[in-house]
Amino acid sequence: MNFEEELKKRKERAEEILEAYLPAEEGFAAGLARAMNYSMRAPGKRLRPVLMEETYRMFGGEERTVEPFMAAMEMIHTSSLIHDDLPAIDNDDWRRGRKTTHVVYGEAMGILAGDALLNYAYETAARAFEMAPGDVRVERAFALLTRKTGIYGMLGGQSVDVTNEGRPLNQEMLDYIYLNKTSALIEAAMMTGAILAGADSGETEVVRRAAEKIGLAFQIRDDILDVTASDLELGKPAKSDEKNHKVTYVTLRGLEEAIRDVETISREAVELLEGLPQKNEFLLQLVKELVSRRK
Ligand code: IPE
Ligand code: IPE
Ligand code: MG
Ligand code: MG
Ligand code: MG
Repeated sequence: MNFEEELKKRKERAEEILEAYLPAEEGFAAGLARAMNYSMRAPGKRLRPVLMEETYRMFGGEERTVEPFMAAMEMIHTSSLIHDDLPAIDNDDWRRGRKTTHVVYGEAMGILAGDALLNYAYETAARAFEMAPGDVRVERAFALLTRKTGIYGMLGGQSVDVTNEGRPLNQEMLDYIYLNKTSALIEAAMMTGAILAGADSGETEVVRRAAEKIGLAFQIRDDILDVTASDLELGKPAKSDEKNHKVTYVTLRGLEEAIRDVETISREAVELLEGLPQKNEFLLQLVKELVSRRK
């Protein structure tokens, strides 16, 4: 398998699906649609929809109900980035190699574009109800996706992240933040894929545990890159955490230990996935590649 080629194919497929579900730039709210689409079309890694589809395929999923969920997933993630970059949160001017949404469209439109994209994510995922009326897997996936995004997931994590800026944090609070602000959406992506494909609750729980670790390793790697990579490589400002006086995994544990932990935690995730009877070589390789990602 040529991993890079395979990844490119999957990413392009995810982008075609996203594109098909973006709002039309017309009518009085065309400006809002433009701000939403600007952020969505900026070149992100599309990791979450790719993880969703690969988990779906691993469990034998072959239908199209996964598509609106893939688009919704990337909308939720993108809305979290638009808000994360706002002056009141991380106050960052660059994202995905472009000026941040609020810099281009103004702060008010940045706030509204983030809100509208989060809401549009649910409008989009709900399209799966029309595609498969009465399908309990779609109902379960929808409930899971919404829960992992809110107070018991990403937004809960972001709230503790911002309220503790500049304050000392212990490992327990840092774990809470990372497992929620980042792992929750990776869990949402992979568990949605599993649920839609009909995985049973035991299998879905293994996927959740693996995704939790993939998310944790992903955020620690993000902290590492914040201090070791350049703006150009990242497409977003490096040293953002230092600017915001953040306690991160790197400041708490040190760079070397952080690097080691990304490896260890990722290996544990791979082992969990390898323990399942279903196999997906590409997915395993993707998790391994994320350990040393440069952006
Ligand atoms: C950035 O996510 C936010 C974190 C959870 C660290 P990504 O690194 O996946 O951002 P994009 O989607 O590629 O821009
Ligand atoms: C943000 O973590 C996670 C979410 C947006 C939910 P960071 O603040 O570290 O993400 P980046 O570094 O700005 O992408
Ligand atoms: Mg942040
Ligand atoms: Mg940030
Ligand atoms: Mg960061």
